[in-house]
Amino acid sequence: MSGMLIRPAKALRGEIPLAGDKSISHRAAILSAMAVGETRIDNFAESQDCRSTLECLRRLRVEIGRDGRAIVVRGVGKSGFLGPDIPLDCGNSGTTMRLLAGVLAGQSFDSVLTGDDSLCRRPMNRVIEPLEAMGAVIGSDNGNAPLDIHGRRPLAATHHRLKIASAQIKSCILLAGLNSDGETSVTERIATRDHTERMLRWFGVDVDEKKTDEGTTLSVNGKSLLSARDIRVPSDISSAVFFMVAAACLAGSDISIPGVGLNPTRSDVIGTLQHAGALISLENEREQSNEPVGDIRVSGGLTADGKNVINGDAIAGLIDELPALAVLGTQLQAGLEVRDAGELRVKESDRIAAIVENLRRMGANVEEFDDGFRVRRSHLTGARVESFGDHRIAMAFAVAGLLAEGETEIDGAECAAVSFPGFFDVLENVAIYE
Ligand code: S3P
Repeated sequence: MSGMLIRPAKALRGEIPLAGDKSISHRAAILSAMAVGETRIDNFAESQDCRSTLECLRRLRVEIGRDGRAIVVRGVGKSGFLGPDIPLDCGNSGTTMRLLAGVLAGQSFDSVLTGDDSLCRRPMNRVIEPLEAMGAVIGSDNGNAPLDIHGRRPLAATHHRLKIASAQIKSCILLAGLNSDGETSVTERIATRDHTERMLRWFGVDVDEKKTDEGTTLSVNGKSLLSARDIRVPSDISSAVFFMVAAACLAGSDISIPGVGLNPTRSDVIGTLQHAGALISLENEREQSNEPVGDIRVSGGLTADGKNVINGDAIAGLIDELPALAVLGTQLQAGLEVRDAGELRVKESDRIAAIVENLRRMGANVEEFDDGFRVRRSHLTGARVESFGDHRIAMAFAVAGLLAEGETEIDGAECAAVSFPGFFDVLENVAIYE
């Protein structure tokens, strides 16, 4: 099959309505399944990843219906799932696997979590170890999926200090804690996305939060119950970022993206783009199902010439945006350096290697480090690049293609559907070519 062709564009213009946030949709489905009562979830992500979560929950005998564009989940209570008769297929989705591992560890049946080749290569000891410390027994292929989960109910309440800044690990432990025999807590030194905590509160669970010199400690009690409550999912800022970067780089652009999630643990990219000189305004800011949202407007033109380094504690808040920001770096006077981002190597692909390889194919001046990369301001030329089976790489290089001279062909671009089905059509609708 030939790849997706991207032509250089002059600008992006128009309104871009986006589907629901992927991270929040996973949590909405899982928590409403654990709740007592029925939850209607509006603007649920259309992505393949979130469909994997729904399919796994159905296998656990959760009834999930549709009502127009909304889904309706009939909760079974936090320990009311029924053992699945076949392995649960998480597809490409790390969030599905790591969050469900926390739920399944506290059930009284055995289950198996598996996924595609990429997911079965990703590290799972980060969730296996804390769950085993709580009394579950989890078989794996040397720390990789398939995970053979022997649940225990109740789990032993525990305290865990995160060694890796990861919302998936934090969420896994908090969800396991809901089926533990006391108070389960997690301390994170670096703030990671807090959608699980916010949504647990939305469902009536008391999530205690204490800040000390060591970081933030979150705890839940094993006696907590979740009560169903309708949710409206904000649009996905991690999908918006591809349009925001393209619009910022193409002078004459003017786009607006309504109802985007502006959670402070996810929206650092706005400040990063503003620092680069992009004109971004936020309108109609409000709260929606315990998450901040607003409309984002971006008009084109970069001005900044200062040093641009993203490193240290700033990485966690931009982790999914780094492929798009790497492309932005090629347009900045002082380029962009990203360090302390070794986690990028264990995402849906080795994103450092993928970024460096594709940027080089497009003629960019880029250096690779174990924990990041440095890209200098570069003239991009159209080339044949690869998605490496990674949705965010496919979309980031579509943006690069808009900025390049000549045509770019992206092999394996269909994987964009993992988070954003219809991405290329939406892009085509707002791109101005002549
Ligand atoms: C996610 C957390 C992040 C992020 C991923 C989604 C989540 O992963 O990269 O796309 O929904 O909790 P880590 O927890 O591995 O950092």
